[in-house]
Amino acid sequence: MNTCHNKCVLKVVGITQEYNHKNIIEDIHIQLHQGEFVSILGPSGCGKSTLFNVIAGLLTPETGQVFVNDVDVTGETGVVSYMYQKDLLLPWRNVIDNGILPLEIRGIPKKAAREKVKAMLPVFQLEDDGEKYPVQLSGGMKQRVSLLRTTMFSREIMLLDEPFGGLDAITRLKMQEYLLEILKKIQGSVLFITHDIDEAIFLSDRIYIINGAPAHIIEEIIVPVKHASPEEMMTSGELRQLRSDILKRL
Ligand SMILES: Nc1ncnc2c1ncn2[C@@H]1O[C@H](COP(=O)(O)OP(=O)(O)OP(=O)(O)O)[C@@H](O)[C@H]1O
Ligand SMILES: [Mg+2]
Repeated sequence: MNTCHNKCVLKVVGITQEYNHKNIIEDIHIQLHQGEFVSILGPSGCGKSTLFNVIAGLLTPETGQVFVNDVDVTGETGVVSYMYQKDLLLPWRNVIDNGILPLEIRGIPKKAAREKVKAMLPVFQLEDDGEKYPVQLSGGMKQRVSLLRTTMFSREIMLLDEPFGGLDAITRLKMQEYLLEILKKIQGSVLFITHDIDEAIFLSDRIYIINGAPAHIIEEIIVPVKHASPEEMMTSGELRQLRSDILKRL
């Protein structure tokens, strides 16, 4: 089920992953289309980060495959960009030098890498902060540096694992709007982990609900109102119903 007619950039087929001989996630099927924003919504500890580790190639699954643009990349790292749940900035590097990390790994000379990152600073509202060190940044600014670094790796497919989890409610709302603005500029496809129902509804085109032990996809939802305003979130009967349907499944 999908409402998006763009090509499928990422396809996850029948992934099962175990830890210590126990299946954590089982028979997971997911598709992400070009330009789409898709959330994986599920309770804490159910296996969402494990699923991302498989998609990013850090874990090789017991069964199943990961396809990027129809090429089998199961167990291969370096294909999609990945912002970890606890994405830490290197404290001894300033904003620019944190941003160049993915470029350095690819062997791009530092000077050229710094120019590329500097050019992106305004997109992330960090134009005056390039020389600052992580200790001088607010929580929201650090998250923007992490996002910038993630997009320096590749913008085609981005896996974002609860990128706003540690932020206060107001900063979190700002960052959500801000992420949508960035995406308009850089045109990527995003798979986004959250356990916040409203965050998933606000940001997503589609939502996969994952739950159970072992965890599997129990429902796929097409969000009926795209990027609902806070007022619509409160007043729309359709969204209220959706929220309560989702809550019953978590
Ligand atoms: N390296 C590991 N070795 C063994 N078990 C692990 C490992 N990593 C995770 N697990 C277990 O796998 C299960 C799923 O963990 P995972 O981190 O994927 O959950 P999650 O859905 O991302 O949770 P959260 O929302 O709290 O981040 C948990 O029971 C966890 O204890
Ligand atoms: Mg997690």
